[in-house]
Amino acid sequence: MCKTLTAALAALAIGLIASSAAAGTLPAKAILQADKPGAVISRNLYGQFSEHLGGGVYDGIWVGEGSAIANVRGIRSDVVAALKALKTPLVRWPGGCFADEYHWRDGIGPRGERPLRKNNWWGGAPESNAFGTHEFMDFIEQIGAEAYVSVNVGSSTPTEMREWIEYMTSPGQDTLAQERRKNGRDQPWKVALWGIGNENWGCGGNMTAEYYANELRRFISFFHQGEDNPGLRVATGPSGDDTRWTDVLMKNAGHAFDALSLHYYTLPTGNWKSKGAATGFSRKEWVDTFAQTLKMDDYIKRHSAIMDSHDPDKRVGLYVDEWGTWYDVEPGTNPGYLYQQNTLRDAVVAAANLNIFHQHADRVRMSAIAQTINVLQAMILTDGAELALTPTYHAFRMYVPFQDATSLPLQLTTPEFTLDGTSIPAINASAARGKDGKIHIAIANMDPQDSVDLSIDLSGLKAKSVTGEVLTADKMDAHNVPGQPAAIAPKPYTGGRLGNGKLMLDLPAKSVVVVTLD
Ligand code: AHR
Repeated sequence: MCKTLTAALAALAIGLIASSAAAGTLPAKAILQADKPGAVISRNLYGQFSEHLGGGVYDGIWVGEGSAIANVRGIRSDVVAALKALKTPLVRWPGGCFADEYHWRDGIGPRGERPLRKNNWWGGAPESNAFGTHEFMDFIEQIGAEAYVSVNVGSSTPTEMREWIEYMTSPGQDTLAQERRKNGRDQPWKVALWGIGNENWGCGGNMTAEYYANELRRFISFFHQGEDNPGLRVATGPSGDDTRWTDVLMKNAGHAFDALSLHYYTLPTGNWKSKGAATGFSRKEWVDTFAQTLKMDDYIKRHSAIMDSHDPDKRVGLYVDEWGTWYDVEPGTNPGYLYQQNTLRDAVVAAANLNIFHQHADRVRMSAIAQTINVLQAMILTDGAELALTPTYHAFRMYVPFQDATSLPLQLTTPEFTLDGTSIPAINASAARGKDGKIHIAIANMDPQDSVDLSIDLSGLKAKSVTGEVLTADKMDAHNVPGQPAAIAPKPYTGGRLGNGKLMLDLPAKSVVVVTLD
């Protein structure tokens, strides 16, 4: 069965019969309308999230000035280089659940005098506070990104928030600005985004939507957005399909914030007690993972519809500032550190979600995958001085041309893959005109078994050549390990050809393909 009925129905049906038996090639069709530009795909859709959690900050970013690992002012240089290559636009910090227990004053001043705290949310780990405001902003500047700072609402006050903002952004002679100078930073920083709490329906204070909306209004009264602090205010939004939260927030406090966050994690089983393994999984778990991750599209549509009813001009952005796969931790690791391997499956999940975000670029103007290094669906895994770029990293690198590109309609008709009663579309895709003027098309082939022959009608667009990259592997759980040769990396793509006003793409099973038309 096809997602959309087309003249190719019979052919697709034959393909689908093949899909449930042996590996085959399935036909799919699309129409590209390059003359109908849509919304700009904000580069902020490619944001990262780095929490004080497991090896995310300590080991992952911060090794300290005395470390044998190459670093600049304590920040590891290999990680900086890798994130620069991704053109990482922004990083969200310090949490997560950690943010609503974090007191910024713990992380300023001489490092030797900073308090040692217990990280109650994440494994009870000792928190040295060696990585604080100055170190985070140094990291941000080293990678050429912008800052997204989450303030403590759940266990703090508007005063603490206001003082942190003034400490970071005041250009004046006031005591907080002078304290910043004494701590080594003369010029104020620019903070692009401020999160007003995190998951305040859960770890951020277990608030009802009504209660949080009131708290938000109170905090925002002391936020003082303006010339010194032009940062946008991001309100805690819903988890998954909690549309009531969105409605209450938009109704009771919609005027008081610039964006509403959305958190949705992909668990293969959908069960927090037994989420599924990061490697060594079955084909059924692959299919279940995609059935779960594709709910993102439905959730965005449902929250956007509510936001449209309160904010038809789309002033308020929907920021998916936590998303990605969440598996059972690697055996033998601290369950509170959320360390998981990252495979070809994760790369295809990343691509499928990025395609969804592109399709909703008018409302979804920022996202942050959880989390950058050594935690959940990471870009980078480290082991001492060794570092591995994960398949998810490679998918993000392949998608760089979409940053600030203009989305283009791509009407797709895809076959489905069905296993044991669960069906997923074989492919999803997105298209855009890049800032370089070229057309870029990205496809996630989620079918674990069949390649797909995609025929794209270019609607009169003239193209001379097609080039690109493909990320795939024989094994569904192909992955890279720090200190070992890479088992999976993108390769030049040779499966595209142009003719008769069409672009034909041969898309291997379980792959990410990004092509450019010249
Ligand atoms: O990313 C891990 C945790 O997931 C975050 O701290 C929290 O916001 C979410 O529940």
